[in-house]
Amino acid sequence: INIILLGPPGAGKGTQARRLVEERGMVQLSTGDMLREARNSGTEMGKRVAQVMDRGELVTDEIVIGLIREKLAGGGNGFIFDGFPRTLAQADALADLLDEVGQPLDAVIEMRVDDEALVNRITKRFTCGDCGEVYHDETKPTAKDGVCDVCGSSDLKRRADDNEDSLKTRLLEYYKKTSPLIGYYYAKGKLSTVDGLGEIDAVAGEISGVLDKG
Ligand code: AP5
Ligand code: ZN
Repeated sequence: INIILLGPPGAGKGTQARRLVEERGMVQLSTGDMLREARNSGTEMGKRVAQVMDRGELVTDEIVIGLIREKLAGGGNGFIFDGFPRTLAQADALADLLDEVGQPLDAVIEMRVDDEALVNRITKRFTCGDCGEVYHDETKPTAKDGVCDVCGSSDLKRRADDNEDSLKTRLLEYYKKTSPLIGYYYAKGKLSTVDGLGEIDAVAGEISGVLDKG
């Protein structure tokens, strides 16, 4: 099955996507991760989007649709779309792309978290530069200081856009451009909403409930 995880910055999309990869062998397609990878490897596109991302604005539809198109062309199923689509144009493009490869869109899971919690989550997040595991200073620290629990790397880092200024812009972008997708998918009968404020395990349980029902 193919699903979209929809929610504001810090809602826990990446955290839950990684669990679904572990537990169900699904494939995570995070446009945020793809864009960061492009930046780190210094591609032309990566250089072009770096400042836009650091400000917290959305990059162009054309770029992210191109990234997703490449991945879907590779085949497979059980995709988790994480951080994509983020605009109505991207949602329409995804519908076309899935049609082209003969894949359904089974569910759109909206993860609801209030703004106050989002600020705490984002400003206290850090990630492993090697395996991508996501941590939080308070709710999910590493067992041993400075070392990733999963892969043992000491390359733990914070994102350039995880500061209060960029977060403000990211939230505005979400409410203006992405939240209309909630109505869009509701109208298509695809929307399920989960309470993203619970503990990581509780949220995972709610998401499993949605997937196993369908
Ligand atoms: P992207 O990388 O997609 O960032 P985002 O949407 O802002 O989402 P985040 O990764 O910040 O949060 P998340 O929901 O994954 O939360 P996480 O699991 O990490 O996008 C970055 C930028 O790239 C955009 O601003 C834009 O410029 C560009 N971009 C990307 N896609 C694009 C697109 N489609 N179109 C245009 N531009 C695009 O969790 C956050 C923290 O909370 C962690 O510390 C975690 O440990 C903790 N946590 C998670 N769950 C819980 C819980 N249940 N309880 C307590 N703590 C929790
Ligand atoms: Zn790691």
